[in-house]
Amino acid sequence: MDAISVIRAKRDREELTGEQIDWIIDAYTRGTVADEQMSALAMAVYLNGMTRTEISRWTAAMIASGERMDFTALPRPTADKHSTGGVGDKITLPLAPLVAACGAAVPQLSGRGLGHTGGTLDKLESIPGWRASLTNPEMMDVLRDAGSVICAAGDGLAPADKRLYALRDVTGTVESLPLIASSIMSKKIAEGTGALVLDVKAGSGAFMKNADDARELATTMVELGRDHGVRTVALLTDMNTPLGLTAGNALEVRESVEVLAGGGPADVVELTVALAREMLDAAGLTDADPAKALADGSAMDVWRRMVTAQGGDADADLPRAREQHVVTAPSSGVLTRLDAYSVGLAAWRLGAGRARKEDPVQAGAGVELHARVGDRVAAGAPLLTLHTDTPETFAHAEEALTAAIDVTASGTYEPTPLILDRIE
Ligand code: URA
Repeated sequence: MDAISVIRAKRDREELTGEQIDWIIDAYTRGTVADEQMSALAMAVYLNGMTRTEISRWTAAMIASGERMDFTALPRPTADKHSTGGVGDKITLPLAPLVAACGAAVPQLSGRGLGHTGGTLDKLESIPGWRASLTNPEMMDVLRDAGSVICAAGDGLAPADKRLYALRDVTGTVESLPLIASSIMSKKIAEGTGALVLDVKAGSGAFMKNADDARELATTMVELGRDHGVRTVALLTDMNTPLGLTAGNALEVRESVEVLAGGGPADVVELTVALAREMLDAAGLTDADPAKALADGSAMDVWRRMVTAQGGDADADLPRAREQHVVTAPSSGVLTRLDAYSVGLAAWRLGAGRARKEDPVQAGAGVELHARVGDRVAAGAPLLTLHTDTPETFAHAEEALTAAIDVTASGTYEPTPLILDRIE
């Protein structure tokens, strides 16, 4: 077998054989296939796609490139969720302790932000002392003690994906359905969860801009999960406007704690409870009541245990940015559009996100919303507050928001549902 014949086959729209896929993933992981050869193959896949059989084999080969974790020794069923990413998507923070409070074990391996979407680990690192990197035995200890753990994936998990994802990032091959589906699912299956709920986002602030593409991605991932014995369900959710009232690291932690305290914005609560219901059902805990666990403080208790077990101070004041700038409503009427991508871009420019993997993020930076789409606003009233330690970024952030806001004087507003579809 050689790399050139595999590249030529995909270039010429042939279906790759199982042997070709196993060979190229293994050889790439071991370093005997060069980055430029894998880049050419990724571009051929981007252009010509893959059949379901190819995607399934590609995913299996990426799982086999590393270790598989095993949580079967735990006394509770495991459940995990994955979001394809959006603006203000802090749902993992209240969700993991909530589902643990209802009786499941939640091993949540999470990532950092790149570009306009935030990363769960960056958000949690705004809690003084909190550690994202745990060894496998430390991860098991937190899971046993608290019921949920949110941490970085170790280097041994799907190493082929780690190399390939970094390559796709710099070769214009990220936005490929077969490559996204296999990348996400190889990590989730290798992680060893028994049940998986996918939050597949559609809209301006998501990877998939329209619902049909998002539905196809969701269906492919649900089938991959099933192929590998993981009970998998997907919710298709709207990402045309930010989730909740904050986008930015410490700002989102603060909002998540409000949800755990029984308050918080209605959309964040709705999605948290809906995803919790799906995770608990998939884990066989059909009698558990997530709304009750939010209201009675038991989810908050798990959050505090989890944060403390990972070195964090659950009572510490969260960092605040040094400077604020208020953006006001341009006219009076109904706020009919507040674009998710633009708000994410503004938060990123303020310092909440990074341009390169090695860049630091500002814990306090981001955007705070004072109104939601559908709200009536008065001309000159505060609409957004921008937060940063680097005030020279205000103008650039505001520029991102110039075409993001529509206020309609005669405004009637038809709300779109947050949860668009369910796929299993
Ligand atoms: N997230 C992943 O883990 N992989 C992708 O390809 C896209 C998003």
